[in-house]
Amino acid sequence: MTDTNWDSYWQAEDKDPPFASFYRSHVVGKLVAKYCDAYFPPAGKFIELGCGSGESSLQIPERDRVFVGLDLSQNALSRAQKSGFYSELVSGDIGALPFDDESFDGAWNIGVMEHFKADELVPVLREIYRVLKQNGVAVFFWPTWFGPITNAALVYDTLHAISGSKKTMFPKGYVFYWVKGQISAFAEKAGFKNCVVYLSTRDLFQNAVVIVRKM
Ligand SMILES: C[S@@+](CC[C@H](N)C(=O)[O-])C[C@H]1O[C@@H](n2cnc3c(N)ncnc32)[C@H](O)[C@@H]1O
Repeated sequence: MTDTNWDSYWQAEDKDPPFASFYRSHVVGKLVAKYCDAYFPPAGKFIELGCGSGESSLQIPERDRVFVGLDLSQNALSRAQKSGFYSELVSGDIGALPFDDESFDGAWNIGVMEHFKADELVPVLREIYRVLKQNGVAVFFWPTWFGPITNAALVYDTLHAISGSKKTMFPKGYVFYWVKGQISAFAEKAGFKNCVVYLSTRDLFQNAVVIVRKM
């Protein structure tokens, strides 16, 4: 599952796509802070799976929480380190998490789950389930097929393909699922219960906020 192209994506801040920082800080970052604060208990250990630079998560209130970040890109981890948000940063693959069973009170990610094909998703969700404690919660900010950034990426990739270029907005392909029915079915197959999905005007429905619990 390792895709080293993410390292070039996170190469340098001045190479980020236009508006990426604004989107992370002022759009999705607000949503992440709101839902993580509401669904995570005020104390415990929480992991972001595919943390990137961490910029989308910096506004989650700390309270008595300890935050761990995991990513497979070293460049992402170096940038996340500079943010000062995480107590620990770990290099690893979401599909084979380097943690014991029941290590975390909660997990979250943003813009990561759409990079897994249907046959990869349930094993990935099972792995997340494994590292959560009983009653642990996972909050996924899961891009939708109808979101504006999704569609901008599709136009960008298509125009490049037509002109003979292999350039894509994001390094790995993306797969979109029917927000409620398909995603909750994947989560239930992995063992999760009580799948709740929200959409928000704040990010113009770019992300489904998918909340699941290990019970
Ligand atoms: C679109 S970026 C989103 C990053 C960050 N969450 C944000 O909002 O800016 C996807 C991230 O997932 C990471 N990633 C992709 N596949 C992964 C895997 N199998 N294991 C760990 N990280 C992965 C990439 O390195 C990248 O940092």
